[in-house]
Amino acid sequence: MSIPTLDASGKVVVVTGGSKGLGRAMALGFAEAGADVVVASRKLERCEAVADEIRGMGRRALAVSCHVGDWDQCAALVDASVAAFGRIDVLLNNAGIAPVPPSLIGVTGDLFDKTIAVNLKGPLRLTALAAEHMAAGGSIINVSSKASLHPTPFTVVYAAAKAGLNALTKAAAQEYGPRGIRVNAIVCGTFHTDSLHASIPTEGLQVQMASNISLGRIASADEIVGTALFLASDASSYLTGELVVLDGG
Ligand SMILES: NC(=O)c1ccc[n+]([C@@H]2O[C@H](COP(=O)([O-])OP(=O)(O)OC[C@H]3O[C@@H](n4cnc5c(N)ncnc54)[C@H](OP(=O)(O)O)[C@@H]3O)[C@@H](O)[C@H]2O)c1
Repeated sequence: MSIPTLDASGKVVVVTGGSKGLGRAMALGFAEAGADVVVASRKLERCEAVADEIRGMGRRALAVSCHVGDWDQCAALVDASVAAFGRIDVLLNNAGIAPVPPSLIGVTGDLFDKTIAVNLKGPLRLTALAAEHMAAGGSIINVSSKASLHPTPFTVVYAAAKAGLNALTKAAAQEYGPRGIRVNAIVCGTFHTDSLHASIPTEGLQVQMASNISLGRIASADEIVGTALFLASDASSYLTGELVVLDGG
């Protein structure tokens, strides 16, 4: 038996929210591991910048503007990916937003709809569409949140959306398992990204948050890469429908 590696050479990887934060870290990480990468988010210019970095590493890259909450734009993203690279091996449903309502009564219809659209509706549609172009060995990785397991009043809509993403993970794993396509979620704790710094802006608050983590620190964005590569590789060939908690303990 040969020991499986995290090598992603020759794989075609689609990353939503790939322009910054955890998505950018995974886009660059998969390219470093040998993959060709489709970088998608709403702002094309930022996706192009990441795609240029990937091309600079000698890999192929495509930048696509896509609002994942829009049914038709999800289809356009999958079509563009397949037109450029012929198939999809890995889908990283990473794009997400976490607006904070003041209270339950303060949840507007707009906040509710946008939060569900980006965190749940888009991943569901992209999973369905991408799976059509995946062969056995394909991997779908959903980026979820600890909030889905430990909701609070301030994260109520986001937590519900990510809990839905966890449910999607398990349902899709059952649907695609017979075809050899695996579906898992990375349930993230706290990572240094723009969205974290917007919700926890001061160093004092970040230190306080880190004190509740076993490893005593907030993760850097690139610390998601190893887990994502593992879930995309044969090293996790018997792992599906699983919620992998990545939170520093
Ligand atoms: N950072 C953390 O501590 C943490 C913790 C738990 C879970 N997560 C999850 O990790 C994922 C990435 O978070 P992050 O911290 O890296 O966030 P981030 O730095 O704010 O980046 C978010 C990314 O998503 C894209 N995006 C936002 N709305 C979009 C839409 N409607 N359609 C397509 N792309 C969209 C953004 O690009 P555009 O603006 O160009 O669209 C950007 O590339 C999210 O799902 C988040 O819920 C993060």
